[in-house]
Amino acid sequence: MAVRTLKIDDKDVAVEAGATIMEAAQEAGVQIPRLCHLEGLSPVGACRLCLVEIEGLNKLLPACVTEVWEGMVIQTQTSKLQDYRRMAVELIFAEGNHVCSICVANGNCELQDVAIEVGMDHSRFPYRFPDRGVDLSHERFGIDHNRCILCTRCVRVCDEVEGAHVWDVGSRGASCFIVSGLAQPWGEVDACTSCGKCVDACPTGAIFHKGETTGEKQRDRDKFAFLSTAREEQQWTR
Ligand code: SF4
Ligand code: SF4
Ligand code: FES
Repeated sequence: MAVRTLKIDDKDVAVEAGATIMEAAQEAGVQIPRLCHLEGLSPVGACRLCLVEIEGLNKLLPACVTEVWEGMVIQTQTSKLQDYRRMAVELIFAEGNHVCSICVANGNCELQDVAIEVGMDHSRFPYRFPDRGVDLSHERFGIDHNRCILCTRCVRVCDEVEGAHVWDVGSRGASCFIVSGLAQPWGEVDACTSCGKCVDACPTGAIFHKGETTGEKQRDRDKFAFLSTAREEQQWTR
């Protein structure tokens, strides 16, 4: 097994060749902010919150999709990165309609957690107030596109873990949105097994259990890592 040795925030770490910076950071006990990344799902590098500085490079690289190389010297918490992350979070808030006080995820939202972590108290960007819909056609779940940050965790978990492929990304650029089935109401998509994995994976209040209050919200995100390990090691019982 080839090993790569590197430094992250002045900590020495050795990881298997092919590991990502995110995985190496985890090994070193360094926490890098992330929104699109979820252990157990393939990384996509969509949110850009995990950008890090690498000595000798004049551009920032996303930790979740960049493989380590020998002798890398990485910084994850410089003031440049903190400013950048704050700006990225402010843009996410300005692009959607996030009214935390009336959101089912209030107090249990990864976007909120990151906003607090980067010290955001308001967005310096003009709020766009997009006109987006809410789909309550599914018997048990709902999706409020106003709170969707296009992280694609729902798309990946449904495809890679559940194997149902209910979700996709529709359109392009600023008008991108998450679609169910062939742009059908969620409740009409036969492929949906109602497993609830997309509800667990969603980092915000965009996908939710119907009738769930903020206090009742529970998410078990560790189960994807468990499921993908079980799949790789063929631990299934059926
Ligand atoms: S999804 Fe998170 S950030 Fe957005 S309104 Fe809900 S609690 Fe606030
Ligand atoms: S619905 Fe949730 S999980 Fe899916 S892309 Fe939007 S924020 Fe991400
Ligand atoms: S966590 Fe790396 S780009 Fe989103």
